[in-house]
Amino acid sequence: MPVKGKIEWISGPAVKASGMSAAKMYEVAQVGEEKLIGEVIKLTGDIAFVQVYESTSGLRPGEPVIGTGQPLSTTLAPGMINQIYDGLQRPLEVISKKAGPFITRGIVADSVDFGKEWEFKPAVKKGDAVEGGTILGTVQETALIEHRILAPPNTPKATVKDVAKTGKYTIADTMVTAEDKSGRKFELSMHHKWPVRIPRPIRERLDPEIPLITGQRVLDSFFPMSKGGTGAIPGAFGTGKTVALQSISKWADANVIFQLGCGERGNEMTEVLKEFPELTDPKSGRPLMERTILVANVSNMPVAAREASIYTGVTMAEYYRDMGYDTVLVADSTSRWAEALREISGRLEEMPAEEGYPSYLASRLAEFYERAGRVDTLGTPARTGSITLVGAVSPAGGDFTEPVTSQTIRFVKNFWALDARLAYSRHYPSINWMSSYSGYIDSVGKWWAERVDKEWSSVRAEAYGILQREDALKEIVRLLGPEALPDEEKLILDVARMVQIGFLQQNAYDDVDAYCSPQKQFVMMKMFVQYHQEALKALRNGTPLSKIRGMQVIAPMLRAKFAIKSEDLGKLESLSKQMFDEFSSISGVQELKAA
Ligand SMILES: Nc1ncnc2c1ncn2[C@@H]1O[C@H](COP(=O)(O)OP(=O)(O)O)[C@@H](O)[C@H]1O
Ligand SMILES: [Mg+2]
Repeated sequence: MPVKGKIEWISGPAVKASGMSAAKMYEVAQVGEEKLIGEVIKLTGDIAFVQVYESTSGLRPGEPVIGTGQPLSTTLAPGMINQIYDGLQRPLEVISKKAGPFITRGIVADSVDFGKEWEFKPAVKKGDAVEGGTILGTVQETALIEHRILAPPNTPKATVKDVAKTGKYTIADTMVTAEDKSGRKFELSMHHKWPVRIPRPIRERLDPEIPLITGQRVLDSFFPMSKGGTGAIPGAFGTGKTVALQSISKWADANVIFQLGCGERGNEMTEVLKEFPELTDPKSGRPLMERTILVANVSNMPVAAREASIYTGVTMAEYYRDMGYDTVLVADSTSRWAEALREISGRLEEMPAEEGYPSYLASRLAEFYERAGRVDTLGTPARTGSITLVGAVSPAGGDFTEPVTSQTIRFVKNFWALDARLAYSRHYPSINWMSSYSGYIDSVGKWWAERVDKEWSSVRAEAYGILQREDALKEIVRLLGPEALPDEEKLILDVARMVQIGFLQQNAYDDVDAYCSPQKQFVMMKMFVQYHQEALKALRNGTPLSKIRGMQVIAPMLRAKFAIKSEDLGKLESLSKQMFDEFSSISGVQELKAA
């Protein structure tokens, strides 16, 4: 018997209903005569607080609230890629067809098309063992993604009795019939459901030792992300959060991308919805959407859907992870999500903590970021997959001490702090190299040493050391001017500036510069480090600083990022050689004079 209660009061997206003592936490409820979709988010005695995912205007006390007994769930099946969903995994296209551009209420829309036929290729045969996570077969979901049909995580150990032959089927059809030890038969299809608030189970967590290569130098070389890692990009309005997330979506060496939009302003989500479908996947030349799922919280949608959307997004990402894919979910911006949480909490008249956010903001953030990870998945054949989670944070006025930023810092390993002053001086990405950090520098070092160069850690440390030394000199320079410094310290300022312009700045809109391969990053970084070493030697041998500053090679070194393609490493090597040659010629002249 479903729970049936009645509305006592309505406050925005929150509804209080009595007669609900049998309801369960996070149960989906149908609210009012129009059967609006809601979710039980708080229970006290026979009172249930329900957050409603649709506009509650017109709802009246006394109307019924009916429990469905089911938690808020995603439907997982081929057909998700290339979709644009709302926070409840309803395709925006279907909703707008049913309701016009303005989302009206009580619209039920399947998350995936149950009528569409897919070419299924079985991966198991009669007599095979199945369990949660076993790959039953495959479907080419898009040109870029092979969808692996998984037995749901809670499938008992069983034996295959019957499998569908290669051919066209809908996701409603039975693909596999299996029998468990007790002789109970059950059927598996190409879809299953999973509750959004419960992490999908895994076999084992793996160490974060593989970098997620993004092609962005300041990230990969200085503040690396790992596959399965977590990161935040906090920054004031206009500092480049959206561009940074888009660069990651486009270039990261991941298979499936989840772009979660909590529109900052009304029209921003519309822009993403227009722009994203036009992006090209640089590796395949095909539309990026062929390996992307968008979750869009358009501004006319109630806040509760925004609260749910991050769970909907991450659950879908876990499903593709379970297929054995590397996935990346970027959320823009988690501040808007936290505001939804705050608004609902306020409506429930909960005791507010910092700046009106509920006291459970921290645990919600923790729960979200804990769903990142690189894992061995359940089921056979053995495979690993990952979810990397990156959230933009948009603190008002760029104040990183506000609650959402300061709480997020506790749960992410990478902190890519955007700096309004850098953005203002058009240094992009405006990632502040002093206040940012990565928790994966040591763990990804082995990969770089093996795949790129065994000197990676030491060269990186030396390059970063130059920036740190420049930072330490800033105060003196501010007080006394650079001329007060000895030549070796002036040289530090020069080389730090070269690293900033020639290495850290990266133009997302330049064809060559938008992506920098790990090899190119390393060779460039080493070139600047060697420049510093050689210049220091030259200084110490009596070469005047002015001569070092006048070197021909500096300009092409600063241009290398966009003048030399990642494939043309040879050209970078010859540029390095040119640098060494010029050093010997300028210090050679010096020696002659001395002689
Ligand atoms: N890597 C980059 N390369 C070039 N321009 C950039 C880069 N990052 C940001 N910008 C510039 O900054 C503007 C604002 O960036 P955006 O990501 O929209 O900021 P935010 O999301 O933080 O408000 C962009 O429209 C673009 O002109
Ligand atoms: Mg933005």
